[in-house]
Order: sequence, then structure tokens, then C-alpha cells
Amino acid sequence: MLNFGRARPQQRSSRPMSLGGMDYADPKRKNGFVGKILLAAALTALCIIMLKQSPSFNTPSLFAVHDPRVTHVLVTGGAGYIGSHAALRLLKDSYRVTIVDNLSRGNLGAVKVLQALFPEPGRLQFIYADLGDAKSVNKIFSENAFDAVMHFAAVAYVGESTLDPLKYYHNITSNTLVVLESMAAHGVKTLIYSSTCATYGEPEKMPITEVTPQAPINPYGKAKKMAEDIILDFAKNSDMAIMILRYFNVIGSDPDGRLGEAPRPELREHGRISGACFDAARGIIPGLKVKGTDYSTPDGTCVRDYIDVTDLVDAHVKALEKAMPSKVGIYNVGTGKGRSVKEFVEACKKATGVNIKVDYLERRPGDYAEVYSDPSKINRELNWTAKYTNLQESLKTAWRWQKLHRDGYGSPLVMSS
Ligand SMILES: NC(=O)c1ccc[n+]([C@@H]2O[C@H](COP(=O)([O-])OP(=O)(O)OC[C@H]3O[C@@H](n4cnc5c(N)ncnc54)[C@H](O)[C@@H]3O)[C@@H](O)[C@H]2O)c1
Ligand SMILES: *[C@@H]1O[C@H](CO)[C@@H](O)[C@H](O)[C@H]1NC(C)=O
Ligand SMILES: *[C@@H]1O[C@H](CO)[C@@H](O)[C@H](O)[C@H]1NC(C)=O
Ligand SMILES: *[C@@H]1O[C@H](CO)[C@@H](O)[C@H](O)[C@H]1NC(C)=O
Repeated sequence: MLNFGRARPQQRSSRPMSLGGMDYADPKRKNGFVGKILLAAALTALCIIMLKQSPSFNTPSLFAVHDPRVTHVLVTGGAGYIGSHAALRLLKDSYRVTIVDNLSRGNLGAVKVLQALFPEPGRLQFIYADLGDAKSVNKIFSENAFDAVMHFAAVAYVGESTLDPLKYYHNITSNTLVVLESMAAHGVKTLIYSSTCATYGEPEKMPITEVTPQAPINPYGKAKKMAEDIILDFAKNSDMAIMILRYFNVIGSDPDGRLGEAPRPELREHGRISGACFDAARGIIPGLKVKGTDYSTPDGTCVRDYIDVTDLVDAHVKALEKAMPSKVGIYNVGTGKGRSVKEFVEACKKATGVNIKVDYLERRPGDYAEVYSDPSKINRELNWTAKYTNLQESLKTAWRWQKLHRDGYGSPLVMSS
């Protein structure tokens, strides 16, 4: 496990230090003895200072102690699209943040952006680790004093999940179990879990409420549902405060242009509609293929509920604030309004200013006509409402970042130039 945390060295002068045997030195003893102690103390101090300048020194760190004035949130998957936006929002709201990610899908560049924005000690640390490795996860929990966990880390492509289901059960279900076990073992009391509307499958009635039966139809949705079930069973006999958020289709990026969505190029074929639109606008792919124009929807194309990432992370912060011991809150996070693929493509053309070529093709097996949320429960209980509901504006914001970052964050493992 490599530790890129940067929030150590600066506070050298402000932190009280206990230097070797100083506290016990008896002033009445002989000079020679005192001299030796002083020399030892000075050498110890020198060592500490030298160690502190080396990047591997991190005990005792601000991250290792509970501070009643600051909530310390572990953000798993914080180098990814949604996790990085959540970390940004938490940092802006003065939370202390530890990101754990193994960069298998996310970008170190996103973490570097956050570190540059919040360089002060005790604000943000990044720990490179694999959540599938229970031993390193346990070590992270024993070395850090977390108050809450936002668990974003996962693999998240429906198409890929049908081709490689074990990867999904491993990196979603089994890793959630590892995180939960560590939380229980170390007394971390609050969990905000990233779930998805894919856990509902193909419900007969729209809109989808939280009591709509869950009958997922692909390994991605099933793995998330299983993770939810593990959490719910655990909750029955625990005082943990738990919020499960089921997101609909996430789009957009930081309105101030600091972060964006930069999936791996190799995932393009499994990609989401916004990524495909931007790729088409940039000429990376020849155009868009809209599959199915004869669904029973107003314009014949599929209807989905698109939620802006800025609204989504606001829901997470509200969930964190309102989480209650021994309670589980389950919430849909969507706008409540469905938009057709045709509408989406038109909004994307306007947002990018590119007349994207669109081919209308036959239906793709496994797609369902309409999916949209009923967000009234989260409106009511968490006082959350989607504010960024102009599709074209959300896409414009995302496109602005895409245009300035043609290669995303550059190489995923290094800082972008
Ligand atoms: N994007 C959406 O539309 C959407 C919709 C519903 C739910 N979700 C959920 O939101 C969460 C975040 O999704 P995203 O779109 O930001 O995905 P993402 O791929 O951008 O981010 C996931 C992050 O998790 C990390 N990760 C994966 N496996 C890991 C492991 N074993 N150890 C450590 N880190 C690991 C990746 O490196 C990546 O940085 C996921 O749980 C996803 O299922 C996303
Ligand atoms: C991330 O974790 C997975 C196991 O879940 C591992 O197979 C993979 O090699 C890791 N990736 C990196 C870049 O460390
Ligand atoms: C997920 O788990 C598999 C092992 O089942 C591993 O090979 C892979 O690297 C892991 N991570 C990702 C992002 O796929
Ligand atoms: C609900 O949120 C709005 C802002 O979106 C705020 O003005 C209002 O005071 C909040 N209501 C409660 C009860 O917290």
C-alpha cells in the first residue's frame, strides 16, 4: 500500500511534540546526565523532523485522531467520476477527507486537482489500496479515525457486467462486505452507500418509488442489490447509521470546471450516453447509434432520468447530515422527469455546437422503454431537490471540461500536464 497523503509536514511548528525523555528529566540531577538527555532529545527531534520531511511519515497524523469539530469521511472510489465530485463538495464544506482508490478506473489527476485546492494539513489524504484486500483495508481503518464512509468504489458498466459477472460480484458485493466488516470492527458509525436504479430491473409501473420491487436483470444490478441486502441484514442488529442512495443516470460535472468525467478509453464500448455524445462531437467516433425508435414513448426512443452530479453529491451530504443511528434510509436520487434519447441527443448537439451524426437503428435486446424516479421521499425527508435540471446546461458544463481536457486527466496514474 502506497501512501500519497500530503497533509503532514506543514504543521511542524504548530503541533505539540513530546520529545523523547524530556518530560521526565529531573532538573536536580547531575549536569552530565542532563546533558546526555538533552543530546538524546535533540537527536530525537532531528530524526522526527527528518522523518516528517520524508513522504512516508504519517504518525501521528491529523487523520489518525477523532476531532469533535471535524467529521472525517472515507471516500472509497474518490478518484472516480462521482467520488471525486463528492470529495470536492465535502472539502468545500470543511469535512476531512480520506480517499481510498486503486486507480483501476479512476484518475490520480482528479486527486491532484483536489490536493491543489485543499493543501492545508488534515484536509485531504489519498491512500492507494485495493478494497478487495481485506488486510490493507483493515490496516487503513486502524490507522485512521473515520467518522463516516461514502462507499463509491465499484465497477459500473451494465454491458461489461454481463460479459464478466465475477468481476462485478467481486468488486461490488464482496468489496462492500469488506468495507462493512472493517467499519464494524473499528466502530465507524455512518455509511452512505452508492446504489443504483439498476437494482429495480424492469418495473411494470412508473415512476419508480423506493418500494417498487427490486428484480435486477443484469449482474451489475444484482451485485448492487446483494450488497444492499448485506447492509440491510447487518443493520438489523447494529446501531450504524445507514443511507442507501439509488442513483438514476448521472451526468454533468463541476460547474467551476475543476473536475470532469474521464473514463478509460477501453471502456468506451460499454460507455454511457453522455460520453458517447462527447466522443461523437469530438470526432473520436463517427456518430451516435440510437437503438430503437418504436418504443411506446412520446417520440419512440427510450426514456431515462438524468441526474446532475452536483445535485447527486448534494444528496450525499444531506444524507450524511441526516443519517441516524440504528436507522436505514433508502432514497431514489433522480429528477423525477424522464427525457428521451432523442431529447438528449438534441441537447447534446446544442451544448457542443456540433451537428452530431445520428443513426437510428433496431432495438437492442435488454433495454426497457422508460425508467424514471419518484424522488418525493428524498424531497420530503432530506429536503433535497434536483436543481440542475436543464439537460443542455449540464451537458454544456461537462463539454467545457471535455474540450479543455482532450485526454481526460492524462495518464490515469500521473498528473495531467
Ligand atoms: N455513473 C452512474 O451513472 C452511476 C449510476 C448509478 C450508480 N453509480 C454508482 O456510483 C459509484 C461511482 O460510480 P462512477 O460513475 O463514479 O464510477 P468510476 O468508475 O468513475 O469510479 C469508481 C472508482 O472506484 C475505484 N475502484 C474500483 N474498484 C476498486 C477497488 N477494488 N479498490 C479500490 N478502488 C476501486 C476506481 O478506480 C474508480 O476510481 C459506483 O458505485 C456506481 O455503481 C453510478
Ligand atoms: C485494483 O484491484 C484489483 C482487484 O480488485 C486488482 O486486480 C487490480 O490489479 C488493481 N489495479 C491496480 C491498478 O492496482
Ligand atoms: C475486480 O475484480 C477482479 C477479480 O475478480 C479483478 O481482476 C479486477 O482487476 C478488479 N477491478 C476492476 C476494476 O476490474
Ligand atoms: C430546505 O432547503 C431549502 C433550500 O433548498 C431551504 O431554504 C429550507 O430552509 C430548507 N428547509 C428545511 C426545513 O430545512
